[in-house]
Amino acid sequence: MSKTLDNLRLYAGVVKRVGYTLTAGMLAPGSRDELLKLYNSYNGHQQPGDSTPVDPFIIPKTDVFELFGNDNATYEGVYECGFGHTTEFELKVISNLVKKWNPRRIFEIGTFQGRTTLNMALNSGVDTEIVTLDLPADELASTKMEIEEGEVRYVKKEVSGERFIGHPAASKIRQVFGDSASFDFKTYADSVDVAFIDGSHAYEYVLNDSEKVFTVMRKGGLIIWHDYTNWPGVWTALNELYEKDARFRGIRHIGGTSIAILTV
Ligand SMILES: C[S@@+](CC[C@H](N)C(=O)[O-])C[C@H]1O[C@@H](n2cnc3c(N)ncnc32)[C@H](O)[C@@H]1O
Repeated sequence: MSKTLDNLRLYAGVVKRVGYTLTAGMLAPGSRDELLKLYNSYNGHQQPGDSTPVDPFIIPKTDVFELFGNDNATYEGVYECGFGHTTEFELKVISNLVKKWNPRRIFEIGTFQGRTTLNMALNSGVDTEIVTLDLPADELASTKMEIEEGEVRYVKKEVSGERFIGHPAASKIRQVFGDSASFDFKTYADSVDVAFIDGSHAYEYVLNDSEKVFTVMRKGGLIIWHDYTNWPGVWTALNELYEKDARFRGIRHIGGTSIAILTV
């Protein structure tokens, strides 16, 4: 009897949690994490009797504690995240990576509101230049390749870079606009120490952006990809690069995040 009661309580708890997550909870901070947890609980783990593995994340993991011992970074807006942003923890990881690499130039694909751009600016030297590329909403219909339906809303934001516009650190940030598939990266050849790839999450774009960014990196530079575990286009493209292209064999997925990194 008490087992039945326990099961009923468990069932009611799950219904309440799922109901909240799929309704009012969609507006709460961290809703994306909650949805991902739900998604993974149904799709991310193999069921008894399944013969094919369902975990598509083949890239070997590294650990934040292998990368840095302490959290030495400074932040702004770290808890103000939601759809389209890096999570709190990911922002801290990226900020610490930037601090550790001490880059002269950072190149970001995908500005959005500029939350990560601002925190990369806060954690780099006074002479660092942060170039951030964004697709203007009025170029949405004329991109060279197709972007994902689900990311149109990030392109159609009110203001690109609103988190850093007017901030004292904005003097280090240069906004450039265009489609990453037609943007002229040659100007930046051999000059980028940290790149953050977080533009379109479509497979073709991830391949395009990875290739273009690779050509502008300085030796010893660091490429950071966001959303490896969140978008099929990203994990399919990165898995392919990792498996088939020797230049990308050193990619590592940072455990507990959707970030992948490569030292070039
Ligand atoms: C998920 S948001 C980036 C989030 C941001 N990096 C952050 O950490 O807060 C994706 C951004 O990529 C931009 N984008 C999408 N397709 C692009 C393309 N083909 N070229 C350049 N930017 C693109 C969108 O306009 C949007 O601002």
